[in-house]
Formats: sequence, structure tokens, C-alpha cells
Amino acid sequence: MRVRFVSEDEIGSAAEVWYDGLREEEGSPWENYLKKWTPSSAARWFLDSKKRLGAKILVAEKEKIVGINGIISERNSGKGRLFTGIAVSPSYRRQGIGSLLLHRTLLELKREGLRWAEVETIQGIPAAKYLYPKYGGESIQVPA
Ligand SMILES: CC(C)(COP(=O)(O)OP(=O)(O)OC[C@H]1O[C@@H](n2cnc3c(N)ncnc32)[C@H](O)[C@@H]1OP(=O)(O)O)[C@@H](O)C(=O)NCCC(=O)NCCS
Repeated sequence: MRVRFVSEDEIGSAAEVWYDGLREEEGSPWENYLKKWTPSSAARWFLDSKKRLGAKILVAEKEKIVGINGIISERNSGKGRLFTGIAVSPSYRRQGIGSLLLHRTLLELKREGLRWAEVETIQGIPAAKYLYPKYGGESIQVPA
């Protein structure tokens, strides 16, 4: 397993992993949210965030890309924003890949001198219950 930043020409594959990852969560919690996205519009969003905001896309790779997280470092607020959220391909889950991506993300932010990380997710889903709290995540509820 390798965790690395993607190059621009791999952003399409990373966006597909993100889209399928969100789509294939139990109980379809992302169904409504995904209505406004397709894998190719997500790829444009990632690319645009990279160009305008210096976003970086971290991926986990086995034979292919199987997990993703996008990071935006917000120097003004001292926060790293996990703007895509972590997503792992369904058949590669429960093997520690999500944890590995989260860990690498936090290390990267720390290396940049940022002390906080933020992600928007949905209350009660596996990511919110099991993954983000793993390295100190606490939930703050925002109005819907
Ligand atoms: C959330 C997600 C990224 C986790 O990826 P993963 O590779 O399966 O995560 P890990 O294997 O590192 O698991 C992390 C911990 O959560 C637990 N966990 C993960 N999914 C779980 C589930 N469905 N039920 C119970 N526990 C679960 C693991 O057992 C592990 O706990 P441990 O460290 O105490 O052993 C993955 O389920 C996913 O892609 N979900 C859909 C996309 C999504 O909703 N992402 C959040 C966007 S904000």
C-alpha cells in the first residue's frame, strides 16, 4: 500500500474512487448530496480547488487507486480542511486504508504547521462514528 499525492492526470481516477466510495455507503446517506455531482464534475472540482486554493489530493494505491482524501491548508485560520472527505473503494474497506489516509493527512498538516483539521460529514455514518474520532476528532453540529 502506498499513500501519495496524485498528479493532475490522475485526478479523474481519484474522483471516480471518491464518487463510488460515497455512493456505496450502507443506507445511501450521500444519495442526495451526490445528485449534484458526477465523477467528471468532481474531477473538475478537485482540479479547480488545486489551482485556486492549492488543494492537494492524497490517495492510497494498491494495484490501483483505492482511497482518497483532498486537503486544503487554510493558513489564515490555521486549519486543514478535508474538503472531499475520506473515501475508500467498497471492496477495500475495513483494512485500515481510511485510517492510513487520515493519519497521513494529519501528519502532513502538522508538517505544515497547522494545528487543526476540519471535515464536514453526516452524523451517524461509519466515517463519523469510527474513523474521524480515531485520531482525536470531535463532532460539532452545524445547522442543516
Ligand atoms: C469511512 C471509510 C472511509 C472508512 O474506510 P476504511 O478503510 O474502511 O477505514 P478503516 O479500515 O481504517 O477503519 C477505521 C475504523 O473504523 C471502523 N469501521 C470502519 N467502517 C466501519 C463500519 N461500517 N462499521 C463499524 N466499524 C467500522 C474500523 O473497524 C476501524 O476501527 P479500529 O481502528 O478501531 O479497528 C469508508 O467506510 C468509506 O469510504 N465510506 C464511504 C464514504 C464516506 O462516507 N466518507 C466520509 C466522507 S466525509
